[in-house]
Amino acid sequence: MRKNILHINHQLISSLVKKTDVVCDMTCGNGYDTEFLSNICNHVYSIDIQKIAIEETKFRLKHKSNITYINDSFVNFTNYFSACNHFIFNLGYLPGKDKKITTKSIDTIKTLRKITLSYPKSEIIIMSYPGHEEGKKELISILEISKTFSNHRTLVTRYYQNQTAPVLIWITPK
Ligand SMILES: C[S@@+](CC[C@H](N)C(=O)[O-])C[C@H]1O[C@@H](n2cnc3c(N)ncnc32)[C@H](O)[C@@H]1O
Repeated sequence: MRKNILHINHQLISSLVKKTDVVCDMTCGNGYDTEFLSNICNHVYSIDIQKIAIEETKFRLKHKSNITYINDSFVNFTNYFSACNHFIFNLGYLPGKDKKITTKSIDTIKTLRKITLSYPKSEIIIMSYPGHEEGKKELISILEISKTFSNHRTLVTRYYQNQTAPVLIWITPK
């Protein structure tokens, strides 16, 4: 099987998440990550700013009983739950839909700050896509802000030969 960085992302998540854990998929999209997470943990909160993403995923995964859907920006996640062991971000826009509805650096940075302060023991795993303009800005901002997280370590995995390919970022408590 040909392994790529998305495969490594799921391998990393699988190695960290326990069956008793609560996980938040910060960008539900088509729900593939939500579905994967729901199979390996106790409960998933799945957030998306687009109603269509939430409704289509809710319909496709209607047989699953351990997912709570939230139609809002991830910036507001603290309004919905208190405990969470892992925060999973798959940034960017919904493939096949409006590319203008993409995650924005300003929101992503604000949310990462909030998580590291309010959930200092939680893991953060991010897939970032520098192949489009906002994604490029977003990746630079994430790498900059992560330098200021004194209680966390940041591991970045990227293709050495391709600067526009997806990048995996793991922000883990020290
Ligand atoms: C790359 S897609 C996510 C893919 C998804 N994890 C999957 O498995 O299909 C990115 C998603 O982020 C959503 N999004 C953009 N800005 C957001 C925000 N501020 N809060 C929550 N979701 C957001 C988009 O609507 C889009 O559905």
